[in-house]
Amino acid sequence: MKYLDLWSQLTETEKICLLTGRDFWTTHSVERLGIPSIWLADGPHGVRKATSTAETGIGTSLPATCFPTAATLSCTWDEALVERVGRAIGRECRHQGVHVLLGPGLNLKRHPLGGRNFEYYSEDPLLSGKLAAAFIRGVQTQGVAACAKHFAVNNQETDRMRIDALVAARPLRELYLRQFEIALREGRPQCVMASYNRLNGIFCSEHRWLLRELLYDEWGFDGVVISDWGAVNDRAAALCAGLTLEMPGNGGTSDRVLQQALHKGDIRQSDIDNAAVQLLRLVLQLHDAAAQPLVADYEAHHELAIAAAVQSLVLLKNEDGILPLSPGLRVAVIGQFAQYPRFQGGGSSQVVPTHLTNLWDALHGYLPGEQLHYAVGYEISGQIDEAQINEAQRIARRVDVAVLCVGLPDSYESEGFDRTHLHLPPGHDALVRAVAAVQPRTVVVLTSGAPVVLPWIEQVPAVLWAGLAGQGAGEAMARVLCGQVSPSGKLTETWPQRLEDTPAYHCWPGDGWRVHYGEGLFVGYRWYDMRQIEPLFPFGHGLSYANFAYLSLSGPDQLPATLEGACWHLRLRNTGMYPATEIVQLYVHPPEGPVRRPKQELAAWARVSLEPGQEQVVTLVAEPTAFQHWDPARQAWVTCGGCYELRVGASSRDIRLRHTIEVETPVLPPRLDRFSPIREWLSLPEAKQVLEPLVEALANKMAGPQAPAKGIAFMRAVLYDLPLHKLVGFTSGHFSFEMIETLLNAAKQRWANS
Ligand code: BGC
Repeated sequence: MKYLDLWSQLTETEKICLLTGRDFWTTHSVERLGIPSIWLADGPHGVRKATSTAETGIGTSLPATCFPTAATLSCTWDEALVERVGRAIGRECRHQGVHVLLGPGLNLKRHPLGGRNFEYYSEDPLLSGKLAAAFIRGVQTQGVAACAKHFAVNNQETDRMRIDALVAARPLRELYLRQFEIALREGRPQCVMASYNRLNGIFCSEHRWLLRELLYDEWGFDGVVISDWGAVNDRAAALCAGLTLEMPGNGGTSDRVLQQALHKGDIRQSDIDNAAVQLLRLVLQLHDAAAQPLVADYEAHHELAIAAAVQSLVLLKNEDGILPLSPGLRVAVIGQFAQYPRFQGGGSSQVVPTHLTNLWDALHGYLPGEQLHYAVGYEISGQIDEAQINEAQRIARRVDVAVLCVGLPDSYESEGFDRTHLHLPPGHDALVRAVAAVQPRTVVVLTSGAPVVLPWIEQVPAVLWAGLAGQGAGEAMARVLCGQVSPSGKLTETWPQRLEDTPAYHCWPGDGWRVHYGEGLFVGYRWYDMRQIEPLFPFGHGLSYANFAYLSLSGPDQLPATLEGACWHLRLRNTGMYPATEIVQLYVHPPEGPVRRPKQELAAWARVSLEPGQEQVVTLVAEPTAFQHWDPARQAWVTCGGCYELRVGASSRDIRLRHTIEVETPVLPPRLDRFSPIREWLSLPEAKQVLEPLVEALANKMAGPQAPAKGIAFMRAVLYDLPLHKLVGFTSGHFSFEMIETLLNAAKQRWANS
C-alpha cells in the first residue's frame, strides 16, 4: 500500500504536523516524500472556495452554484434529486480543486429558533438521515469527500462553543444520533466533523465514547474525523478520543502540545501513528481520485438549481384556487424581496452564486409586462414605512391580484446566533395587513429558512413558502405562481402557532453552560401530537394544484419480530386537473405499553407523479426502527410487539387511510441482575423453581397464620416486587448470596445462548 509505505518514511515531527491544518483551508504537504495537501471548503448547499488559504472568504469566494439550503431542499423529500444536487456540488469541487466538501449538515431541528436550522434538513431523523445519505453519495461519486457535520447534538448557536447538551439515552439514540447513523450506513462519508459543543459533560471533539466507541467501533466508520473550525480544547485528549485532523491551522501550537504529550506519556506513539496513517490514506485517495481534471457545467447546474427550487416550494394555503395566477390577470408585485431576493442564509455556508434569478424579472417570462406593477413595500431593515405601505395599497387596488414578497432579512437569521422570536419584521407584517385590507386576492410569497408566525394568516387566501431556495428561487417562484408546474413540496418541520407551543420552550437555550433536553423524545411533531397542540402547519403539510384520492392500502396484517416484510401498497389517483406530484407519507402509531413512545413516527414516504386521472400503486417499505425503541439497558434497538396502526396520509395531520397490524413480540431474555425484582427472575426456569415456593412460604409466614386471603395476596405482591438480593435479609440468610451468584450465572448462560 502506497500510503503505508509513505507513512513508514515519515519522521515523528512530520506525522504530528499532518494532524493539524496548514492554514484556514488546507492540510500540510510533505514535499520531500511527494505527499500533497488537500483543500477543504464549505458547503453545504454550494461550494465556497476562498480565494486565499489565509481567509475565511465569506462573500468573496469563487462563484459556485447556490442550491436551495438543506431546510428548503428537504421539502422535496426526494433522495434522487438531493443526490443529483450533491453530484453537481461535488463536480464543482473538482472543477475548483476542492477535495473535501464540509457538508452535509444534518443536525436535528430541536427548536425553530436555531440560527442554523436553514442548513439542516428536518426535525425527523429518518428523513434527515436518508436525505443526508443521498447528498453524501452524490458528492462522493465525483471523487470528493463529504464531511457529515456537526457530530453531534449541535442544535443551537447560543454558546455553541461551550454549551453542554444534556440528553438522555433514548432521545440521543432515537433522535439526535439516529440521522447520523443512517447517513453513515447508507452514505458512507469519508469524513465526519466533530462539533463545538459538549455532550453530557464532554466536548464532542474529545468525546471518546462518541467518536471512538460509537462512530468507529459500533457504526464501523472508516474515514477521518475532522474538528469543526476551532473546536479542539485539548489536542491530546481529542487525538485519543479519535479526532484525527484539527482545523484550521494554528501556527504549530497543537504540534507542540502533541510532542509534549507524547514525551510525557499522555498519548502513545500508536495514537499518532494511527491518525497519521488514516489521514495519509484519505489524502492519497482524494488525490488519486482527482488525477483527471473535471470541468463543471455551471449552466446545467443553474438549471438544476432552478429545478430543485421548483420542487422545494411549499404551498401552505390556497383558498378558492386563487393560485395559479390566470394568464389575463393584472398583478401587483410588492416587496423588495421580489427584486433583491434572499436566497440563502448567513455564515460559513454563504455561497457567491453564479447567477441570481428574481421573481420580478422571472414573472415577465410568463406574464405580459403591461400586466405587471411593482412597489417596494418596505425597507430591508424591516421597520414600518407608512409612505411605502400607502404606495403598495395604491397599486394593489388597481390590479386583480397582489403578490407580496415578505420574509426574514439576513439580520434575522444566520449562523452565529439564534433567533429570539418567531416574528417577521414589523414592516413586513404591517404591509401584509394593509394590502390584504384593500385587495382580498392577496398571495403571500414567504422567504425564510425556518418557521415564522403569521398573525395575518386569516386575512390572505394564499401563502407560498419559498424557504431559502438558492439562486434559482425567483424563477422557481414564477413557475409555480403561474402554474407552469404544480407545487409539490411538503414541510419537514412543524410550524407552531406561537413560540410557547414549541417542544423545548421551557428549556432553551440553557443557562450558558448547560442546556437540558427536557422535552426528551418529543421533538417536532412528536411533541405536538403528544400534547395535542394544533400547529399552524403540521409536519408533512403542503398543497398542490391537483387533488389526490388515497384509494386503498394493502399489505400484511402481521409482522414477525424480525420485521421482515414491512411493506404496504397504496393506490393513489390524481383526481385534479393538473399533472402533479404527491408526497405520500406512512406513519406508525404504536400500541400503549410500558415503554413510552411518540404517538406516531414517520416510517416511509414516496413521491408519486401523476397525470390528471392517472392512478398508481405505490410501495411503502417501513423503516424497522418505527417498530422499535432504543433499550438503554440492553444497549440495543428492541422490537416492541403488539397492535400497531399504520397511517397513510398527505401530512402527519391529514391521515387518509389506516391499517392495523400485529407485530410479534420478540422473545428476549430479560436483563437480570441482583436488583431485578423477583417477578422478573421467574422468567428464568432455574430461578422459578427455587423462588416460587420460597415466596409462597414467606408470604404465608409474614402474613401470619390467621391472615385473610387478601393479607396473603398483599404480602405476595410485596415479595414479588422485591429486588432479589433483599431476599437474603428477608429469609435471614436462608436464601444465600451464593444462591444469587448461582442464579446470576444461570441467567448469564441463557443470555449468552439466546
Ligand atoms: C462551522 C462549520 C464550517 C466551518 C468552516 C464553522 O464555524 O461551524 O460548519 O464548516 O466553520 O467554515
